[in-house]
Amino acid sequence: MKWQTYFFKEVDSTNTRAVDYDVGSVIIAENQTAGRGRNGRRWQSLAGNLFLSAVLPALQNETPFLSFVAGVSLAEALPDVPVRLKWPNDVLLHHAKIAGILLERVDDKVIAGFGVNIRQAPDRDMLYQAGSLNQKYTPEEVTKNLLTVLSDNLDLLMQSGFTPIRQKWLNYAVGIGEEIEVKLPHETIRGLFETLTPQGAISLKTPTETRLISAGDIFLL
Ligand code: BTN
Repeated sequence: MKWQTYFFKEVDSTNTRAVDYDVGSVIIAENQTAGRGRNGRRWQSLAGNLFLSAVLPALQNETPFLSFVAGVSLAEALPDVPVRLKWPNDVLLHHAKIAGILLERVDDKVIAGFGVNIRQAPDRDMLYQAGSLNQKYTPEEVTKNLLTVLSDNLDLLMQSGFTPIRQKWLNYAVGIGEEIEVKLPHETIRGLFETLTPQGAISLKTPTETRLISAGDIFLL
């Protein structure tokens, strides 16, 4: 992918702005006044952090896997820190969430929005403990690394399917083989996180059955 980058001082949300751009565009803003997180949550946009949205093609059968491509790419963009991935694509450092990714499909595009806490962590997050990279990288370094590996991993997905991306994801994953809790819109279930299925779902073994979960928030116990 050949990227075309657009910088803004302030936008409402880079994901919202990105809708007006072609595949291959990257929208970066220094500040967001209405940053959005997953499941309708807000994303606090603190000074010095990175807010970046990349416009990806909505691939025929591979679109659900873009979520893992995005997570793996962000992890690979931070090579000298021991980051892990929490399903599907939260980036953790020492058990604290340092980055989140929001994918939104609009017509034939998928907007992949990356929020990376380069300098500051929100003081409190309703769901998870938040952390930051403590300026180990500059936003420019993360951007450069991320766009390189994101392009490579998109090629890998298109050429070889989900198998190699799944393997990379498993190498970063937290919680596999452990008891976890999954919050779904209307229930919370607890079970053993067996593996990530070849379709990208969580296989959760409960005392009574094995459930496949493809959306929700997971919590390590
Ligand atoms: C999450 O809930 O973990 C996902 C957070 C995604 C935040 C990023 S910041 C850049 C882009 N623009 C947004 O409004 N959201 C994403």
